[in-house]
Amino acid sequence: MNIAVIGAGYVGLITAAGLAETGQRVICVDDDLRKIEILNSGAIPFYEPGLEELVRRNRQAKRLEFISKLEDAAAECQVIFICVGTPPQESGEADLSSVELVARRISGCARGYHLVIEKSTVPVQTGRRLQKHFAIYGSSSQFQCDVASNPEFLREGSGVEDFFHPDRIVVGVESEKAATLLKEIYQPVLEQTFACPVHDDCGKRSRVPFVVTDINSAELIKHASNSFLAMKISFINMIADLCEAVGANVGKVAEALGMDERIGASFLRPGVGFGGSCFPKDLQAFVRVGEDAGCDFSLLREVERINQRRIDMVVSKIKNELWVVRGKRVGVWGLAFKPRTDDVRSAPALAVIRRLLAEGAVVQAYDPQAMEKAKAEVPGIEYCADAYAAAQGAEALLALTEWDEFLHLDLARVRQSMVRPLIFDGRNMFSRAIMSEHGFEYLDIGSGGSARKPLPDAKQG
Ligand code: UDX
Repeated sequence: MNIAVIGAGYVGLITAAGLAETGQRVICVDDDLRKIEILNSGAIPFYEPGLEELVRRNRQAKRLEFISKLEDAAAECQVIFICVGTPPQESGEADLSSVELVARRISGCARGYHLVIEKSTVPVQTGRRLQKHFAIYGSSSQFQCDVASNPEFLREGSGVEDFFHPDRIVVGVESEKAATLLKEIYQPVLEQTFACPVHDDCGKRSRVPFVVTDINSAELIKHASNSFLAMKISFINMIADLCEAVGANVGKVAEALGMDERIGASFLRPGVGFGGSCFPKDLQAFVRVGEDAGCDFSLLREVERINQRRIDMVVSKIKNELWVVRGKRVGVWGLAFKPRTDDVRSAPALAVIRRLLAEGAVVQAYDPQAMEKAKAEVPGIEYCADAYAAAQGAEALLALTEWDEFLHLDLARVRQSMVRPLIFDGRNMFSRAIMSEHGFEYLDIGSGGSARKPLPDAKQG
């Protein structure tokens, strides 16, 4: 089957390369000529483990090509995935102008039957709008179109693995034909019949659930999933604050909570909060959708508010330790919003750094992948060659992204190079015992080693 994927961003590129790997012929389109140039030179425009190799192999096999003209792809492909960006507007609402522009261009050139699939994260009822759009603007009387929704659940840093081994594939359709085409496209993934490009000895071979529903429900599933995960994170962060205040250990609390199958163990890691290109934006967009529909979405507003207050929490802990921040040298380990990505969009680390700079701190930072992107966002700090350089001469060291490499450092060397060996572990990635052994003052999240609050008075009976 010939498939066009519009948008060579994170979702589009993984989708295009993944589909090509499973045997489809894919034309990936982006109107950013620079991006197309990079892709045609054999590189990829962002860091994602395993993706460069996947793109290279499928280009060589002539199953994957990159072009800039949507009209050329639409002429050859019956199936078109829309994977363009839907960034947030000031109001929190998703900006759908890129989606509309793609639809307009498809309307202007398409002939015959097409299946147009929205994969970008969009608010519920966008599919309806697309259907209406094609009915109004389709310029050829021979143009027939089905619209479908097929939300993506790829996580940055493990997007390639997630493409091949998803928990489920969700499609929102309104015709048998659309459902059949989508099932055919995903058959190798649903049946797990491909040669796994991720694992040498692939043990993840159980059949993938295929959820077929209406378009509105499919769109909503994406927003609801991300909002639920964000809610788990804010919940455990709230519990972490309580643990710290009363002298309990959030690690143990989370572990036991997660053993209840109804709750589940994942997304209960406390820390400096969630970031990235999805959770903050999707949460805001979903709140807008809910409130516009007249529903009470204050629960999700609170999830967002708790997350924003994580930054206040970090800064106040640091200020409490350093007393006067102005002029003090602070080291930062980790800039990306999470490990295994170079993405710094809504990264808590950058928010913390901006606040420290505003307080007059001298900041020096290191990240294994995200330094280039961070430089464009936060120019006023020193970017270091490695983790040791980021600790050198510092009076506090903040670990804000849990990269593996930080777990394998020579701690004696780090300690010796610091003016004051104070580590704030914003991801609970280190062991308190090991840090103490090496002579660090160690602060983490939610272990009530130093309960702040006195016991309440016993009730008078
Ligand atoms: C997310 C969804 O997981 C994915 O399904 C969707 O398609 C896109 O958005 P991603 O943004 O790549 O993926 O990252 P994810 O791994 O979900 O983490 C998001 C943020 O939450 C990160 O900042 C991470 O550090 C934070 N997080 C995650 C926590 O603070 N605690 C946790 O327990 C889990």
